Amino acid sequence: MSVRLMVVLAVLTGVTGSPNVTMRPEDDSADMSAHPNSVPETMEQTDIAGQQEEEEPEEYVMATGELNPNHYPARRAAQVVQHYLNTRYGSPYRLFHVERVYSGNAEDVGDSGRKYQLEISVQETASNATEKCSADIFFPRGEQHSPEVQASCVELLKNDTKVQEEALYQQYKMNQTLLTAHHLPDSHGNMEPDMKPFWHLGIVASSFVMLGESTENTLYNMAQVANVTQLPTENDQLKFDYHILLHDMVSQEIIHWKLLFTWSPAEGVHMLKMDQLPHCHDCDKPPNTN
Ligand SMILES: *[C@@H]1O[C@H](CO)[C@@H](O)[C@H](O)[C@H]1NC(C)=O
Ligand SMILES: *[C@@H]1O[C@H](CO)[C@@H](O)[C@H](O)[C@H]1NC(C)=O
Ligand SMILES: *[C@@H]1O[C@H](CO)[C@@H](O)[C@H](O)[C@H]1NC(C)=O
Ligand SMILES: *[C@@H]1O[C@H](CO)[C@@H](O)[C@H](O)[C@H]1NC(C)=O
Ligand SMILES: *[C@@H]1O[C@H](CO)[C@@H](O)[C@H](O)[C@H]1NC(C)=O
Repeated sequence: MSVRLMVVLAVLTGVTGSPNVTMRPEDDSADMSAHPNSVPETMEQTDIAGQQEEEEPEEYVMATGELNPNHYPARRAAQVVQHYLNTRYGSPYRLFHVERVYSGNAEDVGDSGRKYQLEISVQETASNATEKCSADIFFPRGEQHSPEVQASCVELLKNDTKVQEEALYQQYKMNQTLLTAHHLPDSHGNMEPDMKPFWHLGIVASSFVMLGESTENTLYNMAQVANVTQLPTENDQLKFDYHILLHDMVSQEIIHWKLLFTWSPAEGVHMLKMDQLPHCHDCDKPPNTN
């Protein structure tokens, strides 16, 4: 049992005086306290977690067949669907969040890769609408390829956010002062209400990175927009330089990316450049140029 879970149990026990606190298996805080690549007790190999430290990703024994919807293999694949939906349909007023995994299945597809089929519920955060969707995720073999996703969540696209998007676009297109902002949200989780669309835009842009970087063994979250700088509008597209911090849940590292992209209501987010910045212990090395 993890230290964090023990602390939670100890606190609950102290408060309620009841020694029989139960944790629901779908409880996020309990589940996330485990290592994202920890393998559930249903796996045949017992010391697989130890092996993972040493072996190449290709040699992982991945869960195959029916998946436990609360365990990481299904969760990681579901997170990829969230990134996919954000890159396709996200905007300053439309963001997608996987709420729940109902069921999942994984299988090898010859030597070419592995396919996951999931039943999930996805929430659109601005309207708070939720829909149950089916999704297929294909992870091609080889680290250099991004996963391919097919998902149909048509109900979530019905809420028309064009009016709000157009207003934001006009405000920042016309403004003589180009936007700059830092720390969205700040270390207390706060931000000015008028900065919220730019935080959302940072999440959408981050999903391009996270979709591209995802494999069966990764789990990323956007932690913070370190800063955002608006650049002069070009070809009717608002242009932004974002410095974002991603949380790699597997290594527990914070990774920095610099993203250059444009946005308009008509064209959506168009990514121009994504650069991962070196870790600070590598700060003297030249930045990764590929
Ligand atoms: C759990 O504790 C409550 C009181 O704190 C008690 O009423 C209940 O019977 C207990 N349940 C079990 C399964 O022990
Ligand atoms: C659409 O989304 C906006 C927020 O962006 C919300 O205020 C509104 O209630 C939503 N409409 C529907 C029908 O969900
Ligand atoms: C969002 O919807 C869920 C049910 O789908 C509801 O429990 C929750 O209170 C809603 N949140 C807001 C902010 O409306
Ligand atoms: C122009 O931008 C500045 C800084 O972002 C902001 O304070 C101001 O409200 C904007 N003006 C208009 C008319 O939107
Ligand atoms: C943005 O934030 C990063 C990380 O905190 C910092 O290194 C960089 O200098 C900042 N850039 C600007 C323009 O403030």
